[in-house]
Amino acid sequence: MSTLQEQIVAQTLLWQQELTAVNNHQQLEELRIKFLGKKGSIQGLFEQLGSCSLEEKRMCGPLLNALKNECEKGTKEKKIHLAASTSEHHATFDVTAYTPGQLEGSLHPYTHFITEVQNIFLSMGFELLDGPEVETDYHNFTALNIPADHPARDMYDTFWLNSPGMLMRTHTSTVQMRAMKEKKLPLAGICTGRVFRHEAVDASHDHTFFQCEGILIDKNVTLANLFGVIEEFLRALFGSDTLTIRTRPGFFPFVEPGVEIDMQCPFCTTGCSTCKKTRWIEVFPGGMIHPNVLKEAGIDPTVYSGFAFGFGLTRLAMLRYGIKDIRMLSNGKVQFLKRFT
Ligand code: PHE
Repeated sequence: MSTLQEQIVAQTLLWQQELTAVNNHQQLEELRIKFLGKKGSIQGLFEQLGSCSLEEKRMCGPLLNALKNECEKGTKEKKIHLAASTSEHHATFDVTAYTPGQLEGSLHPYTHFITEVQNIFLSMGFELLDGPEVETDYHNFTALNIPADHPARDMYDTFWLNSPGMLMRTHTSTVQMRAMKEKKLPLAGICTGRVFRHEAVDASHDHTFFQCEGILIDKNVTLANLFGVIEEFLRALFGSDTLTIRTRPGFFPFVEPGVEIDMQCPFCTTGCSTCKKTRWIEVFPGGMIHPNVLKEAGIDPTVYSGFAFGFGLTRLAMLRYGIKDIRMLSNGKVQFLKRFT
């Protein structure tokens, strides 16, 4: 068996060798325990020192202390070194680096279209109106001259909610009564928003789609004002100075007279598949706000008159962007959405 002094020298060399080989925190901790732990090799050497001669103690005591110090110092330094080299590794990892084939975000076609529609009406002096999607029977029907059991309720396949008298709004006309009661006259506003109908889904029908409602109330407002506003709007939207409209009678209980406005096909001069070779596209239901609706809002129909229109914003967006299937607007297909970046 070698002397204590020889063992101390051997342990010192071993420590140096093993410390150099360490390259992570776990290995370092294992090495520390092996040498400096309660049952570690240095403790073992101290125990041997206890039973040595005085002379040996004088010689080996300082050597052993030096080894212990070296181990403690080496552990500390190695720890700092390891920490620095890991953070160096992080510093060179660039999270913003370009990766080929990366997907870029884009605004949804609805967002593009609604902004465009709103900007046109804002430029004509209309303000933006808003209302909830979960509505009361009152705002969706009764206030619009459609009392309970009125057959006109059948025009709207309604999603009724479990709470009595509550529904998902079937049209944006719900904002009419809200705006008329809240705002001062004269009033001109539009509301773009989601509406819901209990319908079977196919390429041209969805249970959820967008409408744009518009109202204008003042003294001496007539149907001519409605036609002028709609024509101006369509001309701005399709970038044509000559686009015209035509009108037909239509029925909605909350307007009298009621109209259906068709626009000249903006895509052809002789007939195409979009206008089904007729040169006309049906787009805008509207009319003069019914006196009963004005009265309900506390407005005197002998003094004031107003028009209202409510068009299918989804349908117009499909026409504008040439979208053939309504489901493309809600299925989140990236290939389709990329067209709008
Ligand atoms: N809200 C009606 C619908 O969705 C459309 C409309 C609005 C008709 C305003 C006339 C006036 O069917």
